[in-house]
Amino acid sequence: MSSIVLGVSGGVAAYKAALLLRAFTEAGHDVRVVPTPGALHFVGAATFEALSGNPVTTDVWSDVPEVAHVRIGQNADLVVVAPATADLLARAAIGRADDLLTATLLTASCPVVFVPAMHTEMWLHPATQENVATLRRRGAVVLPPAVGRLTGPDSGPGRLPEPADIAALAGVVLEHGAGALAHDLSGRRVVISAGGTREPLDPVRYLGNRSSGKQGWALARVAAARGAEVVLVAANVEVPAPFGVRVVPVGTAEELRTAMHAEAKEADVVVMSAAVADFRPATEAATKLKKGSAAEPTAVPLARNPDVLVELVAERAPGRLVVGFAAETGDDEGDVLTHARAKLARKGCDLLVVNDVSAGQVFGRPDNAVVVLGADGSVTDVPHGGKDAVAAGIWAAISTRLGASRGTD
Ligand SMILES: Cc1cc2nc3c(=O)[nH]c(=O)nc-3n(C[C@H](O)[C@H](O)[C@H](O)COP(=O)(O)O)c2cc1C
Repeated sequence: MSSIVLGVSGGVAAYKAALLLRAFTEAGHDVRVVPTPGALHFVGAATFEALSGNPVTTDVWSDVPEVAHVRIGQNADLVVVAPATADLLARAAIGRADDLLTATLLTASCPVVFVPAMHTEMWLHPATQENVATLRRRGAVVLPPAVGRLTGPDSGPGRLPEPADIAALAGVVLEHGAGALAHDLSGRRVVISAGGTREPLDPVRYLGNRSSGKQGWALARVAAARGAEVVLVAANVEVPAPFGVRVVPVGTAEELRTAMHAEAKEADVVVMSAAVADFRPATEAATKLKKGSAAEPTAVPLARNPDVLVELVAERAPGRLVVGFAAETGDDEGDVLTHARAKLARKGCDLLVVNDVSAGQVFGRPDNAVVVLGADGSVTDVPHGGKDAVAAGIWAAISTRLGASRGTD
């Protein structure tokens, strides 16, 4: 159990802080909510007190013997400010301590995550952008806001990411520190495939696989948090898009192939994490195959699908990276890494993320562990953890490689 300080400042999105608080407490954390006085115009202190089980104060003059303005920050393992208003970012950037939250920010030596939410004009204003840059330079994580519906009829960048996204990313920072969400992919375009393709047999049946898309979703969420423009080509995944990510839904391997070729053209990094069917039924019946009919099938002839990863490698422009995924098992011919190295050489990609599926425990689970093999011979162990934490480890390996390839652009 960790001690999380949830700072809440005065924007309409303050109501979502109650859901975030709930996500933290359900994950077993002890949460102390520190709202600004402005935040209490939007959500009452009683809501935060009841959901956290801890007292709520906004100023440094309450509980003076506790010296709350110092102790709360000192005792925290993580501070998350959601929503962070333009005003709160400004006060944090210049180091003011004119309420309990800003005083807490000055005394906290743990990682700090700001989650801005405001109208687009406020977000894009040079003053706000400079404050964000200052906070990032000092080591804080400032998540990019989501794009979408704002207060009233307006729409654009400035929306608070969904509480589930914030909770997942806060978990990564809690586990691995603020560096796990470094803002190092700004200006980079990333295309990720996720999920599993379905190859139709007739209008109602298909050949599919067990991929849930969870690891691809986590890769997209972490890449967006690290500042990338992210496109997710999603095969049969029915969960909401991570914040700031454009989803292109596809069904079959052929649809995924077309979408990946189109989206990869301008991409700095292409990540093929989807489970793409190697084979499809050779023919797709136009009508449902029926029991007892003259055409009742006794076998399903298969045709081989194109290798999308190999095609993307062949098309790759200089300085761009293509990352493959391999679910491997060891056998008499060699262990998991031996097979994976052979696959890396065969496919020609820059990095290969290797899942050991010998125990059959990756698909659909919330956790994972991988090894990232580089074409340059590098081997990066990404230890067991939640899929978002593993995604952060994978992006760290990609980012190092991207930095190395920048010189060849
Ligand atoms: C209805 C309403 C909604 C607001 N929403 C936001 C918002 O989403 N983001 C923001 O930066 N400021 C917003 N403001 C302005 C802030 O409340 C104002 O700047 C305030 O001083 C913030 O104080 P605080 O940062 O100490 O909470 C809103 C104000 C009102 C009246």
